[in-house]
Amino acid sequence: MNKRLTIGTPLSAAATKVMLLGSGELGKEVIISLQRFGVETIAVDRYADAPGHQVAHRAHVINMADPQALRSLIEQERPDIIVPEIEAIATEVLLEIEQERLATVIPTARAARLTMNREGIRCLAAETLAMPTSPYAFANSLDALRIAIDQKIGYPCIVKPVMSSSGKGQSRIENVEEVEAAWNYAANAGRVDQGRVIVEGVIHFDYEITQLTVRALNERGEVQAYFCEPIGHVQVNGDYVESWQPQAMTTIAMVRARELAKKITDNLGGLGIFGVELFVKGDEVWFSEVSPRPHDTGMVTMCSQKQSEFDLHARAILGLPVDTTLSAPGASAVIYGQLEEKGIAFTGLGEALSVPQSDIRLFGKPESFKKRRMGVALANGANTEEARKRAKLAASQVCPIKS
Ligand SMILES: Nc1ncnc2c1ncn2[C@@H]1O[C@H](COP(=O)(O)OP(=O)(O)OP(=O)(O)O)[C@@H](O)[C@H]1O
Ligand SMILES: [Mg+2]
Repeated sequence: MNKRLTIGTPLSAAATKVMLLGSGELGKEVIISLQRFGVETIAVDRYADAPGHQVAHRAHVINMADPQALRSLIEQERPDIIVPEIEAIATEVLLEIEQERLATVIPTARAARLTMNREGIRCLAAETLAMPTSPYAFANSLDALRIAIDQKIGYPCIVKPVMSSSGKGQSRIENVEEVEAAWNYAANAGRVDQGRVIVEGVIHFDYEITQLTVRALNERGEVQAYFCEPIGHVQVNGDYVESWQPQAMTTIAMVRARELAKKITDNLGGLGIFGVELFVKGDEVWFSEVSPRPHDTGMVTMCSQKQSEFDLHARAILGLPVDTTLSAPGASAVIYGQLEEKGIAFTGLGEALSVPQSDIRLFGKPESFKKRRMGVALANGANTEEARKRAKLAASQVCPIKS
């Protein structure tokens, strides 16, 4: 019998074991969703007491970009399913593990590999799948970057390290004087492979969305793509500060968004949720990037859907049916650390939770940084406008303090 279709007793020889590679706030919620089905969970992160460590059956601290450390932990734990939560993973190990059938990698090892580097996923989307994207070029040096902008991309443009997330090392530049600073910023902030950047022409979109797409088994046991209502969001310096669901779209734009989401997720394959990031102007839709995992802007689904993006991910990877219906318009607003301090405290929670139809999640991160995401406020409303106002109000009441 397919082991994925049975769930054993956790902490017994029959346990269904899932290992999370990355145990931040998104991983923590996936673990909680899995535990509701009696799954044995193993949380891995690069630092101790990460949010997911605090709720999993077992916690490990390793450098997941170190192939040997990753391989030996997988061999020690022997999970049935491996769920990458972050991009900075030694994905060559995941490819081996999948080939050797030691574990199922979610959604696939190839998807984890392709999306950890902007080059892999952009070339697949724009060149192989002919999806509309911003104009782009890659550069290995300051000179090559200058040439790419002069000959192909023009101004304004956005320079990003090929390996980075949450806007790290990313800058928007308006003219030739800013190129060197953008290069230096990207080269210093990029992960692992320093000194390679993508430069993209700016898309002047009306709004941007995350199209959450779940690949899950249907009642006939076939993989089917299910779509959540579009999530609108606001990004500041490449990092999300606010999101809401549903984002109003024209029918044509919605159809195109789902076509693009289907195309890229069909190609990446496997089971699980994907966050497909798209730019929209009128009826036109551009593909930006995709996370083969829950998306930070999708935290809103903890209040706007009966099955949150974390529940959907858990169900999909276990081979269970999913339901992506919206339950009520909702919004999320990020709560930042505002302090550079370990072991902080939060006040104002009573005030925050007095906002009608609001809720709060504090992630329990051991150390605060000014711009570190420490929690999120959620709220429902009659429409997204009301939900956004409430979520922002609730977030603004929560005050990080030295304890
Ligand atoms: N070509 C572009 N045209 C217009 N806006 C862009 C473009 N590229 C990026 N942006 C803006 O910057 C944001 C972050 O870009 P991107 O998603 O590529 O970075 P990231 O580091 O992967 O961020 P995250 O990990 O938070 O998704 C986008 O959501 C969008 O608001
Ligand atoms: Mg992004």
